[in-house]
Amino acid sequence: MALQEKIRILILDDEKQFTEELFEFLQKSGFESFETNTHADAVNVLNKQEIDLFILDVRLPGVNGLDILKDVKVEYPGVEVIVISAHGDMDTVIKAMRLGAFDYLRKPFRHIDIQIAIERTTKYLQLQRKLKLIEERNSLISKTLEERIDRQFIGVSPMIRDIIEAADRASKYPDTNVLITGESGTGKENIARIIHYSSIRKDHFFCPVNSSAITDSLLESEFFGHKKGSFTGAIADKMGFFEVCNHGTLFLDEIADMPLNLQAKILRATEEKMITRVGDTNPVRTDFRVISSTNHDIVRRVSENKFRLDLLHRLNTLHIHIPPLRERPEDIRPLLGYFTDTFAQKFNRPGLAIHKDVFRALEKYSFPGNVRELKNMAERAIILCKNNILNASDFPLTTSPDASPIAGIPVANLKSNEVDLVRKALVSSNYNQKQAADILGITRDALIRKMKKYNITIGKAEN
Ligand SMILES: Nc1ncnc2c1ncn2[C@@H]1O[C@H](COP(=O)(O)OP(=O)(O)OP(=O)(O)O)[C@@H](O)[C@H]1O
Ligand SMILES: [Mg+2]
Repeated sequence: MALQEKIRILILDDEKQFTEELFEFLQKSGFESFETNTHADAVNVLNKQEIDLFILDVRLPGVNGLDILKDVKVEYPGVEVIVISAHGDMDTVIKAMRLGAFDYLRKPFRHIDIQIAIERTTKYLQLQRKLKLIEERNSLISKTLEERIDRQFIGVSPMIRDIIEAADRASKYPDTNVLITGESGTGKENIARIIHYSSIRKDHFFCPVNSSAITDSLLESEFFGHKKGSFTGAIADKMGFFEVCNHGTLFLDEIADMPLNLQAKILRATEEKMITRVGDTNPVRTDFRVISSTNHDIVRRVSENKFRLDLLHRLNTLHIHIPPLRERPEDIRPLLGYFTDTFAQKFNRPGLAIHKDVFRALEKYSFPGNVRELKNMAERAIILCKNNILNASDFPLTTSPDASPIAGIPVANLKSNEVDLVRKALVSSNYNQKQAADILGITRDALIRKMKKYNITIGKAEN
């Protein structure tokens, strides 16, 4: 039961007229109810439905109601039980309470009595669930607070302005999946956080997951959660990422590395928004938005049969590509200013200036590690700088500024660069061949010829 959801009530009593009346009353009062007259029927409902409250008559013909209560408390520990006893049968009531019943009602009872008992149980259930949620989230909280701070996206280039605009749009459509591509260190996770914290999902979890960092055997239970005892080591019920980020955002980092068997499951969960914990039979609803990111050529992964095309289509409803820093050197100056200010404040170094040679040198540099590299450089420079002015010598560059003949294009042959460009244009246009051709500045026929030549066969046949 989610905190705000209706509670679900199961009634078991052998008197059909009694259960019918109670069922009708509960339905009218806004509860989702199930009415049963035999033990077998009740077990059937408990297996199929997520029941919150079980109203159980302990005097059933042929079975001991207290045994049923005992079994329910073991098999379905999340279900609270109100027992119905006969007038004067205090002994049974005491036994039932000792076995874990939450409350009792003596027959005959008035509707108001049952209403009060249900209200009391609901309050208790809600508290229990709140507590559980707090426990589940506890380990994530300090990290989340820390991460909330780093939410600035600096840049003056038209590309960055477009990205900020796209992120703003994505934040207004909180159910739309977003794919963010770009080299390592370009700020993909940063943009994902900005989208989340500017959307209505902001008060719920932003849950970053790098599936390549989780061992294969744990992948499914990490994503879907598990029921206590479903495998060795499952010592308690546990929520998976899909449930933790209910109403929030699931950030799938480096999706290109996700194992194929998990891809099928992620696709289904993302489409249906229903998941079943490992070892459980009851699916639960969870509402999340997926933002995914990769620094690999995901289209190539699809053509190599390492990534499912249907999942790619599902994930990239909106696509944001962040170009490498070397393709937007005008962003270096504001970024460096921002990082030096941040670190000067952190290390208590007021009044630091930057020599103009620093900008000149950095604007020619290829930044293989992109903005992350620039940020680390700024931190190191401030720590190492002995006076009040940061000089070019405080910024040692790892590769020569003109190591690559054309800035931004790694040294490789023309063919592989062309294949790369065609693939990238297809991803950015969501496989719209006309748009991809426009991006490349060629005609659609020329694009189709190139796709045939390089055997790039994926994408929609017509658009
Ligand atoms: N435009 C920007 N403005 C401010 N900070 C930025 C910007 N771009 C990147 N950063 C900072 O650079 C660092 C790297 O960014 P981030 O982790 O988002 O990169 P990434 O693309 O996810 O990298 P990887 O692919 O390696 O995971 C972070 O500290 C981030 O805050
Ligand atoms: Mg990242």
